[in-house]
Amino acid sequence: MPENYQYHHFEELESTQQVARQLYQQHGCVIVSTKTQTKGRGRAGKKWFSNEGSFLFSFSRALPFRDERLMFLSYALALSVREVFLADTNAPLPTPLYLKWPNDILIPSEKTWKKVGGLLCELDIQQQDVLFTAGIGLNLYPPAPSIPSTYSVTSQYEPSAIFKNPQRIKTEQLSQAICHRFDQWIDIIETRRHATLLETYASCCMTLGCDIQLSDGSKGYAEGLDPNGRLILRTHDGDREYKNSGEIILQKRIN
Ligand code: BTN
Repeated sequence: MPENYQYHHFEELESTQQVARQLYQQHGCVIVSTKTQTKGRGRAGKKWFSNEGSFLFSFSRALPFRDERLMFLSYALALSVREVFLADTNAPLPTPLYLKWPNDILIPSEKTWKKVGGLLCELDIQQQDVLFTAGIGLNLYPPAPSIPSTYSVTSQYEPSAIFKNPQRIKTEQLSQAICHRFDQWIDIIETRRHATLLETYASCCMTLGCDIQLSDGSKGYAEGLDPNGRLILRTHDGDREYKNSGEIILQKRIN
């Protein structure tokens, strides 16, 4: 069942993640968007830089399961973003968007890819409920040259060449659509039909079929996703390793 998300917009926040959590306690399901963040958070404790023209929001909702299916949430979120942009004829980015395991949003560029966005999935597991807070950040303009390279960020394109009218982005409409698509994926996961989620994710995840290196040092060929949603890494001596999460630091496409 789709949830009813109450939409809140702010000119500036430290981070939409914290505010979404707080507002959930008062209102139930919420979307919190902002124009700029002063303490944007990325995965693995990194900072997330954004600027005018970024598309930034978080949403919070309760989940109907608290077991191994939690593993599928980040795939459902990434696909929801991709699918909504694909269906939007006024999308501010070239579509289709591609996905880098586990949570990056990419656009093709010449013979490679550029990260334009990232997703953050956070869980608060309480006695009764599991609260899920997702953060979506798409940087539609390139970062200013003064942005330190330690920021977890994104495009180096000329906006005029790549981005289509970022100023016209309809934040409320797009964020509501992404949440509703996500809710549909949650129903699919809840009823254990997640094989279709994994297949769809695999079809647009450019990490699969590549030689990769993960931040934990392991290297190998990204063979696919197993039925539990783990990345299957075939190492160079032929063994298989199964990864729940991680950062890919090197990636070479071999097909
Ligand atoms: C990443 O690639 O490291 C994930 C970046 C997630 C950034 C978004 S922007 C909206 C929300 N608020 C935050 O502070 N972070 C997420």
